[in-house]
Amino acid sequence: MKNILCIGAGYVGGPTMAIIALKCPTYKVNVVDINADRIAAWNSDELPIYEPGLQELVEKTRGRNLFFTTDIVQGIKEADIIFVSVNTPTKTFGRGAGRAADLQYWEKTARQIKQHANKDLIVVEKSTLPVRTAAAMERILHSGENERHFEVLSNPEFLAEGTAVNDLKKPDRVLIGGRNNELGQAAVKELVKIYAHWVKRDKILTANTWSSELSKLVANAFLAQRVSSINSISAICEATEANISEVSRAVGMDSRIGPKFLNSSVGFGGSCFKKDILNLVYLCERFSLPEVAAYWEQVVLMNEWQQERFVDKIIKIMFNTVAGKKIALFGFAFKADTGDTRESPAIKISRQLLDEQVELRITDPRALQQAAIDLQEFGDKVTYETDPYAAAKNCHALAIMTEWECYKDLDWQRLYDSMEKPAFIFDGRNILDHEKLYEYGFNVYPIGKPGMSRLV
Ligand code: UDX
Ligand code: UDX
Repeated sequence: MKNILCIGAGYVGGPTMAIIALKCPTYKVNVVDINADRIAAWNSDELPIYEPGLQELVEKTRGRNLFFTTDIVQGIKEADIIFVSVNTPTKTFGRGAGRAADLQYWEKTARQIKQHANKDLIVVEKSTLPVRTAAAMERILHSGENERHFEVLSNPEFLAEGTAVNDLKKPDRVLIGGRNNELGQAAVKELVKIYAHWVKRDKILTANTWSSELSKLVANAFLAQRVSSINSISAICEATEANISEVSRAVGMDSRIGPKFLNSSVGFGGSCFKKDILNLVYLCERFSLPEVAAYWEQVVLMNEWQQERFVDKIIKIMFNTVAGKKIALFGFAFKADTGDTRESPAIKISRQLLDEQVELRITDPRALQQAAIDLQEFGDKVTYETDPYAAAKNCHALAIMTEWECYKDLDWQRLYDSMEKPAFIFDGRNILDHEKLYEYGFNVYPIGKPGMSRLV
């Protein structure tokens, strides 16, 4: 039996290893993390992350060939292949602050592997990293006196939160980057063998290490660019009475463009898009490509502007003053079907509304606890309600932040009746039936569509 170790039991490491354990019963998969609480949660009935289908998946293999522990040293000693999936946040200090990736956890992990490995190993970069990180890792692993050989591969993960289990079971592609020499290609073959247990061979792409690292950044940059592009058009729609849904549909039916990722919104969030684009921007600057850097940075700037524009609109429509008014945010997670709030537009929008002295109510089916952590400095200026009806009661306005299915089925007449009048609704995800809401009595403001106002 071969031993796989994954260092970092987060949104990427946990689900990915659960699938490998399920599909490859002849491999023993150990997942380690420095965070003991997180490991305890992976071993419990309440996993540390919410992901549809994940609990059932983990329960099938946990204790059979999937193990979660904090014993990183033992894990390294047993391993034949090590996946590294520790976080690589944006640097907050020193050179490249606010843009470059903070690689300190990454380097620390490489040093630990070097110290404790007792055989030749394949080390797989699962985390998204700046291009040429594999080279730095190889240098650390082979520094000083060392009889071991470490072959570093790049194998970026393309799963999206909320659909992780399905994305892992049926990936569009698996990408594996390695060196173009005998040892590199032998290591690539080992990794291909693992994925070939459930992924068709023609969907497993192999590439050189740098192409693989760069492809991950580029895939995220292209996806985010689509969201920023459609959001930029939503502003034109609002100015011209064009309708963003009609425009998206017309544009997306061109098979060269395609219909996905053209939903206008309050902006993209999540741990990856902003971080990875800034990473790309930093890389361009480092390689003296300022025009390319400025091009991609605009995707992030447009996203920030979309969030500010949303708050500006709320203030303007509500008679240019929201101080002392009650506003309920429906949804706080950065997208539906996750409890994750990293870079969620709701965070920035909440802060801006709180600066305007709004009395904020927040409701979300999965992310309420995390919301309270994200906004803890505002203390009792924010109320957290599990029940959307309680959140809306006596409010002057509601704003949809996350496209949770359950919001579509609420009793909107009841919500309207319980609110202060005139009652406003700002649908930051365009998920509600705006005509119906207007009939119930709401003043309705979608994104990228004409507002429906009862105030002459
Ligand atoms: C993270 C990055 O955000 C992403 O870019 C990268 O591709 C993979 O890692 P995610 O899994 O969502 O993605 O991050 P997170 O949920 O924060 O998990 C990282 C885990 O690594 C944490 O549980 C953390 O405790 C652990 N970790 C971090 C270690 O075990 N050792 C360390 O030295 C640092
Ligand atoms: C993304 C990539 O999709 C995934 O391949 C990569 O591995 C990690 O980053 P994730 O951030 O989990 O995944 O979710 P995603 O579905 O891509 O959504 C990102 C953000 O864009 C969310 O805030 C979402 O609401 C927003 N979005 C997406 C829109 O606003 N409009 C759209 O049409 C699509």
